[in-house]
Amino acid sequence: MKTIYLDNNATTRVAPEVAEAMAPFFGELYGNASSMHSFGGQVRKHVEAAREKVAALLGADPSEIVFTSCGTESDNAALRGTVEALAGRKHHVVTTRVEHPAVLSVARYLGNHGCRVTEVPVNAEGLLDLQFLEDAVTDDTAIVSCMWANNETGVVFPIDEIAQICQLKGVTFHTDAVQAVGKIPVNLAKTPIDLLSLSGHKLHAPKGVGVLYIRKGTRLAPFMLGGHQEGGKRAGTENVPYIVGLGVAAELAAGHMRDEVTRVRDLRDRLEQGLLAHCPDARVNGRRDPRLPNTTNVSFEFVEGEAILLMLDEFGICASSGSACTSGSLEPSHVLRAMGVPFTAAHGSIRFSLSRYNTQADIDLVIERMPAIIRRLRELSPFVPQGA
Ligand SMILES: Cc1ncc(COP(=O)(O)O)c(C=O)c1O
Repeated sequence: MKTIYLDNNATTRVAPEVAEAMAPFFGELYGNASSMHSFGGQVRKHVEAAREKVAALLGADPSEIVFTSCGTESDNAALRGTVEALAGRKHHVVTTRVEHPAVLSVARYLGNHGCRVTEVPVNAEGLLDLQFLEDAVTDDTAIVSCMWANNETGVVFPIDEIAQICQLKGVTFHTDAVQAVGKIPVNLAKTPIDLLSLSGHKLHAPKGVGVLYIRKGTRLAPFMLGGHQEGGKRAGTENVPYIVGLGVAAELAAGHMRDEVTRVRDLRDRLEQGLLAHCPDARVNGRRDPRLPNTTNVSFEFVEGEAILLMLDEFGICASSGSACTSGSLEPSHVLRAMGVPFTAAHGSIRFSLSRYNTQADIDLVIERMPAIIRRLRELSPFVPQGA
């Protein structure tokens, strides 16, 4: 059975061009990029070429790109490194209620270790209360951290405006752009962002490599101590094959951007319209625009998302649900709860996230299978209102 992979916000397949570019670094090009000899030096050149490619995708200077192990590490480094750099002088962190745990749990950790934390709310469409954010920033604020695009709903936040607010108030601004980079244009030459996180495995590079962009002049304490790699900002022998892979993935992403915002978006819209037309009591969670072109989050009332996933799995269809199985009870995600999505809808939410490897046939199969799955589950559901 063919796998129909519609879970690209969880991870993506490694592009064949990326795998091919990585291969020599598992073989003959095994030198340490920090060695003094020319064998290591030739490897160093490939690391620096990858840095340039990532910088080009972001509109940044190569010296501002620091390779890390993943998006989570980049987020941790941004928040903890900023608070540590301002130790004892600023004690306030501003973030949002809908961040990924890689940011939210770090903010809450800092909240238990001497910081005050403000979590900016969102409305029913998943949009941020910008006035709330602006009013929250004070002279005591060390950092504002707000994701570029939400991983569950795909809602894109007004990053330009938030960056301007922070710049005017002289506060460090970090954005978790893990879901945005490669899907929508990002230009750091135009937007005054101080720190930005990205993750390789969300843009067709392998798992285990990420980037923290650090704008020149940004105060940040190093997160990993040890050797002097990455300009002393992130110790640890460079993960050369993965860094090279990320460089190629960044180059490919730039080339595919038009496809992403046209063909992939059209496929996503076809899927969304097909599901809404053929499944009664379905709704889209989150504002439809601006939104990541590859993401839709659809709730099917009165059924459990996990049950839908299991039935989709029987047809080889991979997606995600908006609830997490914790301690035996299915809790709706913190994002849907922050938006106030009603209980009966939040439980039946499914996130479909596409990539350039999806075809119209993939989408049409989901549209064909879904109505029967929902009908069957509703027959068994205790939540369906009498007479419905
Ligand atoms: C918005 C966001 N931030 C951070 C992460 C974590 O990235 P990584 O898996 O590279 O640690 C994810 C992963 O899903 C994400 O969606």
